Amino acid sequence: MLEILKEIESTFRQSLDSIADEAALEAWRLANLGKNSPLMKAFSGLGQLSREERPAAGQMANQVKQALETAFNEKLGKLKAEALAKSIQEEKLDVTLPGRPFRHGRQHPATTNLRRILSILAEMGFQVYTARDVESDEYNFQLLNIPPYHPAREMQDTFYIDSKVEDGTYSTVLRTHTSPGQIRAMREFAAMNPENPPSIRAALPGMVYRFEQITTRSEMQFYQVEGLAVGENITFSDLKGTLLEFARRMFAREARFRFRADHFPFTEPSAEMDVECYVCGGKGCPVCKKSGWLEILGCGMVHPRVLQNGGYDPRRYSGFAFGMGTERQLMLRYKINDIRNFWGNDIRFLEQF
Ligand code: DAH
Repeated sequence: MLEILKEIESTFRQSLDSIADEAALEAWRLANLGKNSPLMKAFSGLGQLSREERPAAGQMANQVKQALETAFNEKLGKLKAEALAKSIQEEKLDVTLPGRPFRHGRQHPATTNLRRILSILAEMGFQVYTARDVESDEYNFQLLNIPPYHPAREMQDTFYIDSKVEDGTYSTVLRTHTSPGQIRAMREFAAMNPENPPSIRAALPGMVYRFEQITTRSEMQFYQVEGLAVGENITFSDLKGTLLEFARRMFAREARFRFRADHFPFTEPSAEMDVECYVCGGKGCPVCKKSGWLEILGCGMVHPRVLQNGGYDPRRYSGFAFGMGTERQLMLRYKINDIRNFWGNDIRFLEQF
C-alpha cells in the first residue's frame, strides 16, 4: 500500500505539468482524484490492512490526497489566469470605433401644434385643465344644453360604449368634443368656494372621437382645444379681443379675421371665427374654396344654463368659450391633403416634421 501511494505521489506532478487547458485538467482530476482513481482505491483498501499497518498508510493516503488537491487547485488558478491574460491580450476593444447610430424620434406634428396653441393661451393667462376622454352622456350633452333627441346629437355622430337607457340616451360615450370639460372645470373651481366661485381662465386640450366614415377629410379621432373664461362682467368684447390676440399670435399679426354669427346649444350668442386664407392671401383658391376665408373656431358667450350647471350663478357671472380642431390648421399650413396621415403612424410622413 505504501508503495502504491509513493508511486502516485512521485508521478502525479509530471502528468499535471503537461496539461494546458481546463478540459484536460478536468480529465486529470477524474483520473487522479475520481472514484476509480488509484488513490481512491487505496482509500477503500485501507480496511483490509492489519491494525499495525493501517495508521501509517491512512496518514500517507491523506497526505497524498491533500498534495494532489493542492496541486490541482494551483493548476486550475494558473490556467484561469492564463486564459484571462490571453483574452485581454487578444480581444482588444477599439473604443474609437463609431457606435451604431441612434434612431431619433421626434414630436408628432399634431402634438407640436397643440403645445404651441397651449403655450400661446398660457401666455394669455389660460391654465391647462385636462378632462376625460370617456364621458357620460350627461356631461357630453345634457349639461351643455343638448337634451335627449336634440338635433345637435346628430351632428356629432357618437361612439356610445354602453346600451340605450330609457329616455333614448346612453350613459357612457367617448367625448365628441372637449366642451364637457367646461362643466368639469367649472364644478371643480366652484367647489373651492361655492358661495363665491373663483373666476376661471382654462384651456382644455384633448382627443375627441366621432363615429364617422374615415376619408381624406374626416377622421374618427382628432384633437380639440377648448377655452373657457368665467368671471364677473365678462362681455362679448372680451371674447373678441382675446380670440383676436390669440389668432394673431397663432397665425400672423397682419392677418385679417372675421366673426360670423352661428349657433351652438351651449353658447348664446354664438359665432364662428375665420382667418383670411393664408394660402392665397384672401384672393380665393381651392384651399379656401374660393371664399378667401378659412374657418378656425367656434365660440360664444357661455349659455346661462351651462353656467348654472357648472355651479356659477348666471345673474352674477358671465363667460365666453371657444373650441377648435387643431389638425386642420396643420393641413392648411403644410398642404397635407389626407387627414389619415395624422394617426396612420407612417414614419415617412412623420419624419418630415
Ligand atoms: N364643441 C364644438 C364642436 O365640437 C366647438 C365649440 C363651439 C366649442 C363653440 C365652444 C364654443 O366652446 O363656444 O363643434
